[in-house]
Amino acid sequence: MEIIICKNHEEVSEKAKELVVKQLQRKPMSTLGFPTGSTPILLYKKLVDAYKKHLITFKNVRSFNLDEYVGIEPTHPQSYHQFMDDHLFSHIDIEKKNVYLPKNDPTHAHENARLYNDLLKKYQIDLQILGIGTNGHIGFNEPGTPLGQETFVVDLNEGTRQDNLKFFNHIDEVPYQAMTMGIKNIMNSRKIILMASGESKSEAIYQMIKGPVTEQLPASVLQLHPQVIVILDEAAASKL
Ligand code: PGA
Repeated sequence: MEIIICKNHEEVSEKAKELVVKQLQRKPMSTLGFPTGSTPILLYKKLVDAYKKHLITFKNVRSFNLDEYVGIEPTHPQSYHQFMDDHLFSHIDIEKKNVYLPKNDPTHAHENARLYNDLLKKYQIDLQILGIGTNGHIGFNEPGTPLGQETFVVDLNEGTRQDNLKFFNHIDEVPYQAMTMGIKNIMNSRKIILMASGESKSEAIYQMIKGPVTEQLPASVLQLHPQVIVILDEAAASKL
């Protein structure tokens, strides 16, 4: 694991942007894995800037999103479909047919998870970007998820729903289920960048790097991956 400690979130985002730009310049037909949440927003803004400056193109990029809520419409303002359109896809030249996100539809959720998993087996992710939950989750792989788990439908735990309340008006609006790439899918990526900012992530970061590899802290599995770059601000790194 390579660990990069930056002064603040701006620098974390800049460093991550540089690595994505380098990846796309080296391999324009890359398959990228994207997260949502507050952490990657500035990175996406910087990638849009880099695209507008003609430093990169997404014309031949294929993308997979890590996860999506189940049980809200794709057009819901807090769906990850909408998030990705708002922050990245509608501003760049990625082709719609190359964009993959888990489906929101609750009636066929398990079948949709299987199909998404099949696609992930077909197209290996070159560069997966991750955030981390305060409980150490990656994607929506909550503590206790088996390390060999593939794409599945997950019941969100109460802490995660509370963490995500910041994006909704009321806790009752936060979905109870999501579909997520499993830990095995994430570990199958060629290269992984994990970004974290803020003191609230410091304990999870400490456990991820210094603690044992355990299902109780899903991100700890990244210790076993050969190509992980962890980009932290000083607050997230404060317990290391
Ligand atoms: P955040 O979420 O970026 O909103 O902090 C990260 C995560 O839960 O993976």
